[in-house]
Amino acid sequence: MKSLVGPPVRPASTAAADLTLRRGAARVLLDNWTGTSTVPSRTLYPHQWSWDSAFVAVGLRHLSVRRAQRELESLLASQWADGRIPHIVFNSGVPHDAYFPSPDFWQSSGAGKAAGAPPAPETSGIVQPPVHALAAWLVHRSDPAESRRRGFLARVQPRLTAWHDYLLNRRDLGGGGLAAVVHPWEPGMDNSPCWDRALRRVEPAPPSGFRRADLDHGHPADRPTDLDYGRYVRLAGAYREAGYDDRVVRHGFAMEDPCFNALLIVSELALAAMARELRLPDAPYTLRAEALTRRLVTRLWDASAGLFRVRDLHTDTLVDERGVSGLVPLIVPHLPSDVVGKLHATLTGPRFRAPATRLVPSYDLTGPSFDPQRYWRGPAWFNTAWLLHRGLRAHGLTQDAERLRQGFLTQAGQSEFAEYVDPVTGEGRGTRRFSWTAALTLDLLCADHAEAPS
Ligand code: SER
Repeated sequence: MKSLVGPPVRPASTAAADLTLRRGAARVLLDNWTGTSTVPSRTLYPHQWSWDSAFVAVGLRHLSVRRAQRELESLLASQWADGRIPHIVFNSGVPHDAYFPSPDFWQSSGAGKAAGAPPAPETSGIVQPPVHALAAWLVHRSDPAESRRRGFLARVQPRLTAWHDYLLNRRDLGGGGLAAVVHPWEPGMDNSPCWDRALRRVEPAPPSGFRRADLDHGHPADRPTDLDYGRYVRLAGAYREAGYDDRVVRHGFAMEDPCFNALLIVSELALAAMARELRLPDAPYTLRAEALTRRLVTRLWDASAGLFRVRDLHTDTLVDERGVSGLVPLIVPHLPSDVVGKLHATLTGPRFRAPATRLVPSYDLTGPSFDPQRYWRGPAWFNTAWLLHRGLRAHGLTQDAERLRQGFLTQAGQSEFAEYVDPVTGEGRGTRRFSWTAALTLDLLCADHAEAPS
C-alpha cells in the first residue's frame, strides 16, 4: 500500500527531470555571477563570501572550469599577508547600506593594515571554514589538462598553504593543535544553539548603534534575533579595535568547532594531493591531516552522545548541545571505525532524521532550542547535506548517501534553490535562488563521486 506519511519521494529520476533541474541550477549561477565571482544571493548577500565561493566553485566546474578557477582566485586575491582568507570581500560598486556590517564597519584597509589586509578591496576581518583547498582540488580534477595548461594549482597551492598555516599557527588558541573560531560567523553556522552559552558572556552592542540590512530581505522569523546581532557586533568591533591581531587580542568568544576542523583535515588532504600533482613533498600535509584527525577525536569526540561537540575554550569544556557540525567530521576519511559507526547511528537516529526532507537538520530535532525556521537553529541546509553525502560515501555507506542525494535534489527543485528548508514540513526558508544550493545541486547531478582526496 502506498504510504501517506513520510518524506516526499523523488519522481523516478528521468533524464528530462534532471535536465530541468540542471538548467534551473545553472540559471541561478549565471544570474548571480558578477564578472569575477558569484554573490550568494542578489538581495541578502550582495558581495563575495568565502565558503560560499568554495561551494560555488564546486558546482561552477560543471559549467565552466575557467569560471570556477576565477571564483576561487578572485577570493584568494584578497587574502591577507598573515594568510587569512576574509569571510567577505566587498564589491565597491554595491551601496554601503545594502549589507550590514559594511566596509565602514570592518575598516580592513585601515584597522587591518598591520595584520596584512590588502589596501583594496575592503574585506571583513574574520574567516569562514577552510573548504577552499578541497574545492580547488575538485576544480582541478574536473579538467586536469586545462588546469595544468593554466598553471592553476601552482598558483593556488602556496596561498592555500599560507591559509592553513594561519589557522594552525595563529588560531590554535586552546594549545591543543586545533583551529579556534572567534566569532559565531566564522564557523558559518551563525546562531546555532551551540554558541548560546558562550554568547551570554558577551555584552550586546546597543541596537541604536547599528542598522541591520538582512531584515530588508529576510523574514524576521527566519533570521537571528536583534540580541544575537548586538553580540555579533560587539565581538567584531572588539577584534577590529585590536587591529585583527590574534597575538594581542583577548577574544571574548573562542571555540573549537568540529565542522571547521574536519574541513581543515580534508583540505590538508587536498593540499597533499596537489603537492603530489606538482611533484612537491606531500608528507607535511598528510602528517598534519593525521595529527589533526587524532586531535579532533581526542578533544571533541563524545562517545556517549555519538557525535562531536564544540569545545568552549573559555571554560575548556564541551558544549552540551548537538548540532550538525558534530556530524560533519564523517567526511574525514581516516576516522576510527567505532567513531564512524556511532556517527552513522546518530545521523540516522531520531535526533537528525528529518521527517519531511531526508536532509539533515542543523540542530537536534528533539533538543530544547530546536526551531524549524530560524537560520541555524533547526533548518536543514544544502551544504551540510553535500558534506555528509561525501562522508557517507567515503565510508562506503552508499545506500544512505544515495538517499540523502535524492532528498537533496527533490528539496532543491521544490524550494527553488532555497537557502534552507524547514526539516519538519519541507517548506523553503530564507532567500531563494541561493548560489551554493544551486552549485551543489549541479555537483550532485554531474560529479564523478570517486574523486575524493584521501
Ligand atoms: N551569515 C552572515 C549573515 O547572515 C554573515 O556571514 O550576514
